[in-house]
Amino acid sequence: MRARIRLPFFQDSSKRIATAGLIESTFDLKGGDMKIAVLGTGSVGRALAGRFAELGHEVAVGTRDPAATLARGDYAAWAAERPGIALAAFADAAAGAEVVVNASSGAHSLAVLASVGEANLAGKVLLDVANEMTPSDGLPLVGANETASLGERIQRAFPSARVVKTLNTMNFEVMANPALVAGGDHTVFVSGEDAEAKRVATALLEQLGHTDVLDLGGIESARGAETALAFWLRVRMALGHNRFNFKIAR
Ligand SMILES: NC(=O)c1ccc[n+]([C@@H]2O[C@H](COP(=O)([O-])OP(=O)(O)OC[C@H]3O[C@@H](n4cnc5c(N)ncnc54)[C@H](OP(=O)(O)O)[C@@H]3O)[C@@H](O)[C@H]2O)c1
Repeated sequence: MRARIRLPFFQDSSKRIATAGLIESTFDLKGGDMKIAVLGTGSVGRALAGRFAELGHEVAVGTRDPAATLARGDYAAWAAERPGIALAAFADAAAGAEVVVNASSGAHSLAVLASVGEANLAGKVLLDVANEMTPSDGLPLVGANETASLGERIQRAFPSARVVKTLNTMNFEVMANPALVAGGDHTVFVSGEDAEAKRVATALLEQLGHTDVLDLGGIESARGAETALAFWLRVRMALGHNRFNFKIAR
C-alpha cells in the first residue's frame, strides 16, 4: 500500500512552501511517500516505525549502536519480519529523512538529538512523542511541570527544527493503532510553533487512524500534554491496563 499524505491546504501548490520565514519546506506536497526516521528502538519506536512502513512510507530506525541493537533479541525478532525498515545510527537515520520522530527515552532525548546534530534536523518536522520521567519508589516522577516541558527544551535547543509534540498522552499500541480503543473515537493533541508542521503531523496522525486531532497551540502547550502523564499513570492504575485514551468531549 502506498502512502498518500492529504494536505488539503496545499493540494494545488506545486511550489516549495516558505516556512517560518527562515526555511523552505522540502516536502513534496503533491503526495507520495515520506522518508521518516524514527529515533528509538523501544516499544514506541517499533510500533510507529512498523505502522509507518505498513502505510508505505520509507522508514529508518535510529539507535546508538546498530550492531548492538541487532544483537538484541526483541529488536532482531521484530526487524526480521520487516526487512524494508532500515536500522542506522541516530544521525544517519535522520540525515535522509523529511520527518523525524523522537521516540527516545525522555531523559536522554536532548543527548540523542545532539548526536543527530542540528544540520540533520533543520527545516524538518520533528514529532516529539517522548515523556521525561524518573523512577521513584511509587509511580515514576514526571519531568514536565507548569514552567517547563521537554518539547520546549527540544525546540529551544534545535531552533531550526519544526517540533510538534504529539502522541505522548497514550500507550504505544494506541498511538500506532488508535482503533484498538473505542474504534478510534478519542483525542490526540498537537503542540508546536509551525502551522505547516502541525498540518503534516495531523496528516500523519490521520493516516495512523486518529480521528480527533486537537491543536493545543504553541510549543509551550506541551507542558499540558506532558504533565498529563501524571494523570495517565493514575488512570492506568485504576483500570489495570494500557488500552485507553483521553477523549475531549465538546
Ligand atoms: N511506552 C509507551 O507506551 C509510551 C507512551 C507514551 C510516551 N512514551 C515515551 O516514548 C519514548 C520511548 O519510549 P519506549 O518505551 O519505546 O522506550 P525507552 O526505553 O523509553 O527508550 C528507548 C530508546 O531510548 C534510547 N536510549 C536509552 N538510554 C539512552 C542513553 N543513555 N543515551 C541515548 N539514548 C538512549 C535507546 O537507544 P538504543 O536504541 O541505542 O538502545 C532507545 O532507542 C519515551 O520518551 C517514553 O517516555 C512511551
